[in-house]
Amino acid sequence: MTSADLRIGGGTIVTHEAMFPGDVLVHEGRIAAILQPGEAAPAQQVIDATGLHVLPGAIDVHVHFREPGFGHKETWATGTKAAAAGGVTTVFEMPNTDPATATPEAVAAKIAHARPQAHVDFGVYGLFAESTLPMLEEMRAAGAIAFKLFLGSDNPRIPCPNDGAVLDGLEALAAMGLRTTIHAENTPILKWREAQMKAAGRHDLAAHNFMHPDIATVEAVCRAALFAEWTGAKIHIAHESCHHSIPWIAHAKARGVDITAETCPQYLLLSTEDAARLPGTFLRVKPPIREPGHAEPLWRALLDGTIDMISTDHAPHLPSEKSRDSIWDAAPGFPGVQTSMPLMLAQVSAGRMTLPDYVRRSSFNAARAFGLFPRKGLLTPGSDADIVLVDMAKVGEVRREALHSRGNATAFEGFPLKGLPVRTLVRGRTVALDGRALEAAGWGRNLDGEWH
Ligand code: DOR
Repeated sequence: MTSADLRIGGGTIVTHEAMFPGDVLVHEGRIAAILQPGEAAPAQQVIDATGLHVLPGAIDVHVHFREPGFGHKETWATGTKAAAAGGVTTVFEMPNTDPATATPEAVAAKIAHARPQAHVDFGVYGLFAESTLPMLEEMRAAGAIAFKLFLGSDNPRIPCPNDGAVLDGLEALAAMGLRTTIHAENTPILKWREAQMKAAGRHDLAAHNFMHPDIATVEAVCRAALFAEWTGAKIHIAHESCHHSIPWIAHAKARGVDITAETCPQYLLLSTEDAARLPGTFLRVKPPIREPGHAEPLWRALLDGTIDMISTDHAPHLPSEKSRDSIWDAAPGFPGVQTSMPLMLAQVSAGRMTLPDYVRRSSFNAARAFGLFPRKGLLTPGSDADIVLVDMAKVGEVRREALHSRGNATAFEGFPLKGLPVRTLVRGRTVALDGRALEAAGWGRNLDGEWH
């Protein structure tokens, strides 16, 4: 290498454990060297990062990009643009599309559909269902990066398998070495309580929360951990929302279970009290935003390592789909992939955690859990040059119109921000600048076979 492609100079490099002044040299999409400030090394292009922090791009292992089937809510182009603008350089996309990602053909078709649209790197989840058990190997060969198990589901396209099938599937996935991401709620409790609420003529948000009680998630977390211990499977608890789960996750970790967990900004920053400032049914999400008192223990668990990472459960819906007369007609979830890093950097600015604390939970731990490490999640020679430049002095606020997502009905409208991603690079190419995605469709790469 006579001359590198790019030097990002003058900034403060942030890793999962430290911050130091240094320059990043990039060549052919990878990090070629970390240099001392001012250390000589020729480069074709220089990005001046003076006054900025240089972070690994965030990895969000929980997004719904809706295609095929629901392109009016999101497309792979709009979803990955939102990711790029929000400092997210790798996403894992969920299988509850139409058709669901529940056959090798559906996995291959989703990847083929995503590839020409993607602005950031991506992995595609296969569905873990009774019907897919005989096909897990073929789905993996077709490109599935991991599997998603809906233990809590009232949706026939993504049914909850019976416990025998869960056990068999985890045994098979343990042998394959793939981690299973689990929506941990107890389906019979959800269905029983939903029927009760509907029979009582209830249509309010509290009826949704009654349908999703704390015990429904605690039981499913414990069952998932028990099955993982029994089978040796690697599991990942999706969108942890409930403080009662935390001791059980810690207990499983202490017993040596290969269990990781995520939580999301909506569970760290919102409670049922936020319903008052939003239209009646808007706050609906599964699992629910719970009453005050859950967020503080979730923060503690995130900082002590019981919860490993921040994801978003980016679940875009149109504003009209969120605000309905009846809670049962209101679409659950909100977009999050573009607002997660800004919201968390605002928490860094408020002194809630340090930038290295954030990097460990936004990229490092996710890369390690899902087999992407050290190509992703680290700024070191040989790693992909997935980099976010952050301006910790820049202020703003969450605004729906600034979101690239089609379903842009954010629950965080008006939230003040301090610390914003100002440039995102995926494998050395700038894909977003000053909070807007550049046109880079087709640059995002599918993280298939080579990563396993
Ligand atoms: O609220 C939710 N919305 N929870 C899920 O698990 C799925 C998601 C969606 O796809 O809209």
